[in-house]
Amino acid sequence: GSCLESVKIAIDTGYRHIDGAFVYYNEHEVGQAIREKIAEGKIKREDIFYCGKLWNTCHPPELVRPTLEKTLKILQLDYVDLYIIELPMAFKPGDALYPKDENGKFIYHETDLCATWEAMEACKDAGLAKSIGVSNFNRRQLEMILNKPGLKHKPVSNQVECHPYFTQPKLLEFCRQHDIIIVGYSPLGTSRDETWVNVSSPPLLKDPVLNAIGKKYNKTAAQVALRFNIQRGVVVIPKSFNPQRIRENFQIFDFSLTDKEMKEIEALNKNVRYVELLM
Ligand code: A2P
Repeated sequence: GSCLESVKIAIDTGYRHIDGAFVYYNEHEVGQAIREKIAEGKIKREDIFYCGKLWNTCHPPELVRPTLEKTLKILQLDYVDLYIIELPMAFKPGDALYPKDENGKFIYHETDLCATWEAMEACKDAGLAKSIGVSNFNRRQLEMILNKPGLKHKPVSNQVECHPYFTQPKLLEFCRQHDIIIVGYSPLGTSRDETWVNVSSPPLLKDPVLNAIGKKYNKTAAQVALRFNIQRGVVVIPKSFNPQRIRENFQIFDFSLTDKEMKEIEALNKNVRYVELLM
């Protein structure tokens, strides 16, 4: 229920981009929140930008459309605005979302990312996804798609970790050249949950530079971190279940950082990921 409440508060606050995934196990709540807000007359479906994701166990081309259809059924929506390949590596298809062998090792699956991409293109052509993109792709993986013979639709976006401690300068430049939008996940430095976060990298929001710059504008380090990314053309998807912080993270359009401050923040880059995705 906390996801349902948070999405409703977010929509009331003004958020329109909702980043979801089948593997977050809460698409039913997100869909319900959107439908309730439409029923209230607060928004129309076309005001919302919902991003869904194709999970690792669903890379074989014949599974792509049924998987998206399943997401749409859970959401009770007719289309997603963006559908992305969540990770460039595939797991063995089946009911287990994290298939492991008797030694606890992930069971991978050999698939051709280009064939997966063609199935994504077909979803767009069928109107089930307005746009298609990728996530956690590096330059080589993007090039594989961009150079695919007969490419029909290129990825519009690449969702990757991006924040002042992991600024992605080279990937950002590559994506700019190819008109691919970077969507930055963990823009606040994650929840620091040790089960999936590399907590040896220091907490982003305690950073003295972000806090000092925030003080000048009467903003928090979180607001400065988000503003930094949107000001350099990176889309941010901050996560919060706290109403006050949901609102705080939206108050980033009434100030701007100077070029000097942008450079100071860029210099914080440590090239260390919080989300190592070791699988
Ligand atoms: P909470 O849900 O209690 O607000 P990221 O977006 O980088 O994944 O970070 C998410 C984490 O940051 C969550 O633990 C969230 O906790 C916390 N968080 C979200 N907004 C803020 C904020 N404005 N200030 C401090 N922490 C925040």
